[in-house]
Formats: sequence, structure tokens, C-alpha cells
Amino acid sequence: MSYPAYQYETEPDQENSMGHELSQPSHQPVLLNESIHSLAIEPNGSYLDATFGRGGHSKAILEQLGHNGQLFVLDRDPQAIEVARRLAEEDPRVTVLPGTFSCLDDLLGDQVKLNGALFDLGISSPQVDQSERGFSFQQDGPIDMRMDNQHGMSASDWLNRASEEEITWVLSQYGEERFSSEIAKHIVQTRARSPIKTTKQLVEIILAVVPSMAAGKHPATKVFQAIRMHINDELSEIREGLPLVIEKIVTTGRLVVISYHSLEHQLVSDVLKRSPANTDSTSNKPRLKKLGQAVRASRDERLSNRRARSALLRTWEKKS
Ligand SMILES: C[S@@+](CC[C@H](N)C(=O)[O-])C[C@H]1O[C@@H](n2cnc3c(N)ncnc32)[C@H](O)[C@@H]1O
Repeated sequence: MSYPAYQYETEPDQENSMGHELSQPSHQPVLLNESIHSLAIEPNGSYLDATFGRGGHSKAILEQLGHNGQLFVLDRDPQAIEVARRLAEEDPRVTVLPGTFSCLDDLLGDQVKLNGALFDLGISSPQVDQSERGFSFQQDGPIDMRMDNQHGMSASDWLNRASEEEITWVLSQYGEERFSSEIAKHIVQTRARSPIKTTKQLVEIILAVVPSMAAGKHPATKVFQAIRMHINDELSEIREGLPLVIEKIVTTGRLVVISYHSLEHQLVSDVLKRSPANTDSTSNKPRLKKLGQAVRASRDERLSNRRARSALLRTWEKKS
């Protein structure tokens, strides 16, 4: 079976991967062969793809699973869930879990044990490419930025309500943005005249404060990343979700995580090092042991998929 061509982008400064119908964005799963290899799939095992997206990794997992294997697929994005449901209609091995990492305990229930779990963090190309989702500063649209665009507060609502201090904090913590206080001040001044509703308005605010293209990056890159991370509570989701999955993984089972920026890399390491869920109560040693070195995408993959440039794949195995 051949896999569909997938393309994902976490950083909205990346070239748009459009050139296709909006209803059918192109996607390219990152580190596909490497992640499947790292999962060391047992044909009759149970696996979790915690970040289904458009199912690039899921389909590759299914390729390796036998008739009695099981694949649980999670996503908080209603469009991703729609695609997952179509896959589940065709393949009885697939169980769809609509929801977030932090709800995995309830979604999987007490009985489920996993031989492996994959987290491919961040956002998908379909999310970036649809201007109405508001993730991209390269296209004008409503600033929404919710992965689950049916619940919670949009980025526009937040930008028009949050205090200048809170905006400064978010831009500095999640975007490591040098001009966070200047941008926050300009946001608050602008919204006093009229509400900020579109990505174009926000880009104009940022350009007025950060005029240059530092290191070839669009000045809005960090601000958009920061707001997206805040709106989707991305770091808390990782902090809460990983320990829940550690509990479910059986001895010799694998956890594979692909992360895309320094805050994610660091947090994943911290959770795996410090979470009580990963500490054996009798020996005080980690229950999951890191296997080998972190893996980066090959030169070819980095050239053909910009998102792969920052990707880091790490694997852990549960000890007896
Ligand atoms: C990088 S994409 C995954 C792409 C996927 N591996 C593929 O090949 O199609 C990340 C996906 O995870 C979802 N996601 C991110 N954080 C999540 C969370 N906390 N809970 C549930 N889904 C999440 C996003 O909505 C997005 O669809």
C-alpha cells in the first residue's frame, strides 16, 4: 500500500504548502519510517496515535498491525476526527478518541493497555493552510487558532480581553519574543480604537514594532507560535497527557515523541525525568528508559519538508 503525500508545518513562517484545494490540503508526516521503526510494532499489540492529524502515522502503524491489533487514534480537531472516523469505518482495528491528551485516562478507560504510543506534537498543515483557522500570518483570516474550533476561547477573544501584562508574559514565555512588552503595548493601544479580529491586523501591529526580518524569519513567527500555544494550552496538555500514557504502557512497550521547538523538547525531557508517573516507587528509578539518541530528519526529508527541519524524535521503553 502506498501512503498519501503528507505535509505538516508547525511554524507559520514556512512556505505555504498550498497548490491544492483547501478541502484537500496536502500533508507529509514527519520522520515516518523512523517513528514506525521506533515503535517496534507487535502485530497483535494495542497502539495509540495521540496526534492523528490526517492519519499519516496511523496508516503506517496499521500497515504493521495484524488482524488482532488495535489502534486508538486521538485528536482534538473536529476535522481530524472526521477523517479518523472515515478510517475507522473502513478498518475495525481503529478506535477514534475525540479529545485532548489531558483526557486520555478517561478516553482509554481502565482496561486498555498499550504496547506503544506516538505523539507528533504541534499543529498540522491542514490547520495552517486554512485561512479561516487563523494559524497563519501568511494568509488573512479571523484570528482563531483553536485546534478544537468548536470549544474554548479564540485568539481574537483573548487578544481583545487580556491585560497588557498577560500578553507580554505569553509572548515572552511561549515565543521567547524579545519585543514582547512593546508588541503587547501596541496591541492594547490598537484594540482601544477597534477590536483585533484578523491575522492581517495582528501582523500589522507586529510589523510596526518589529520591522526587520531577523535571521530570515518573519517578525510574526514567534508571536503567532506563542499565542497558539497559549490558546491551546499546549504545554499543560503535554505535562498532563504524557504521565497518563506512561501508566498505560506495558513492560517493553514504547513511547515515541516527535517535538518541534525548544520548549517542547525541554518539557518532554522534564516530564520523563521528573514525573512521579515515571518513577518506580520501590526502586525510585524511571519506569521508561530512553532508547538511543534523538533522531533528526535526513537531509532529503529536511529539504522536501520544511517542518522536518526542527523535528526531534525520541523513544523510551518501559522497563520491567
Ligand atoms: C503534527 S499534527 C499530527 C500529524 C499526524 N502525525 C499525521 O501524520 O497526519 C498534530 C495533531 O495533533 C493534534 N493535537 C495537538 N495537541 C493535541 C492535544 N493536546 N490533544 C489532542 N490532539 C492534539 C492537532 O490537532 C493535530 O491534528
